[in-house]
Amino acid sequence: MSDKAVLNVDGQSYDFDVFTGSENEKCIDISDLRSKTGYITMDPGFGNTGSCYSSITYVDGAKGILKYRGYPIEELAQKATFTETAYLILYGELPTQEQLFAFSKRIREHAPIHTNLEHHFSGFPQNAPPMAILSAMLNLVSCFHPEVLEVPTTGEEFDRTAALLLSKVRTIAAFAYRMASGQPINHPNPNLSYCSNFLHMMFSDPFQPYEASPAIDQALNLFLILHADHEQNCSTSTVRVVGSSRANLFSSVAAGVCALWGPLHGGANAAVIKMLREIRDSGNTPSYYLDRAKDKNDEFRLMGFGHRIYKNFDPRSIILKNQVHEVLKELNIDDNLLEIALELEETTLKDEYFISRNLYPNVDFYSGILLRAIGIPLNMYTVMFAIGRMPGWIANWKELHDHNQRISRPRQIFTGETSRAYVPID
Ligand code: ACO
Repeated sequence: MSDKAVLNVDGQSYDFDVFTGSENEKCIDISDLRSKTGYITMDPGFGNTGSCYSSITYVDGAKGILKYRGYPIEELAQKATFTETAYLILYGELPTQEQLFAFSKRIREHAPIHTNLEHHFSGFPQNAPPMAILSAMLNLVSCFHPEVLEVPTTGEEFDRTAALLLSKVRTIAAFAYRMASGQPINHPNPNLSYCSNFLHMMFSDPFQPYEASPAIDQALNLFLILHADHEQNCSTSTVRVVGSSRANLFSSVAAGVCALWGPLHGGANAAVIKMLREIRDSGNTPSYYLDRAKDKNDEFRLMGFGHRIYKNFDPRSIILKNQVHEVLKELNIDDNLLEIALELEETTLKDEYFISRNLYPNVDFYSGILLRAIGIPLNMYTVMFAIGRMPGWIANWKELHDHNQRISRPRQIFTGETSRAYVPID
């Protein structure tokens, strides 16, 4: 098999190296295309553009495969905790008992936030979007830890900073919710696990500590594991682009939060629930919404459907769908939105428009119903996604530094006016 790709352009022939990844996926290395030929490639939305070599996460969209560091998502979802999964994503190996203990201890130690940082929460108007608060506060954390502005990507300082970030994102998220809903904040409890501690900070009342049932703790662990990484998605690419200027880890992930916020990405989990509620409350049938989604003159899209990479099924949505049934049964919850979601999915999967475009439920289609069962309010759904995605963002930021990646700087083809003479305003 040839290890060169040949391009014929302007009557000349040029060779480019071909590279095959460990899962047999292939690329043509065009990094010297412009210097050799004078051409650039055009790929809006980067659907065909590889931006890095990575050993963190593998996705096969045709077969519906997702692996973190070689471990199938199905196995991690069944057997691991989120903390263990975060360790795996950051360091490339599952932790030993000792390593997990040390990692969890660091996370526990960094859960409280500086009192002066706490005061900043009261500066936000009530009902400020929690994603805006999260992004702003992540940037602010670095002001209270100036040592994190220059973090090496290995060794003690990196370990400390990664744990600090995994821990602070959880505290900030819970505090943002408490403040926005006019409730006193709950300080972290070092005796609780990662998920139970978050739920305590969210839901404890001064005279009634919240104790998460094992079913709820497990459901939250699962949610976070399924969101922990997803290779070069919009928010992770953003973290890499920002980090490529050698911006610090905190501002890089704060940018990731902003990218995740959009309804075409992480914001879809809340949009799905809004859509299901609208279907329920309007009395219209799922088919009515399907027709709207297919109408090119209507901006409505079926939220939670379609994916840039998965063209068969999203393995995370299958796991979530099964889990949602179990959790609702265990918690004795009858959620009519689940019925609507199931009906919508069934109708959609038989529809020619969706079949021909390979549009299937994605991770966000059932995740909102799981979050509802856990008791998470709608405006926190995308924040929950951000907490889950943090290990992936940190690992990608670390990897780009380890690989000494060049600054990200795409090119363009200019289509505007050429030279014009200035006309004075009078
Ligand atoms: N509803 C209706 N039509 C859709 C949908 C949808 N949800 N998704 C894609 N299509 C159609 C497009 O209109 C397009 O049709 P056309 O070929 O006739 O023009 C075709 O399917 C291909 O869609 P693109 O938008 O080109 O696909 P792309 O890969 O750019 O977008 C995306 C993927 C953003 C996820 C898209 O499917 C979408 O908007 N889905 C709804 C939002 C959503 O659920 N986002 C969460 C994604 S998962 C995540 O980020 C964690």
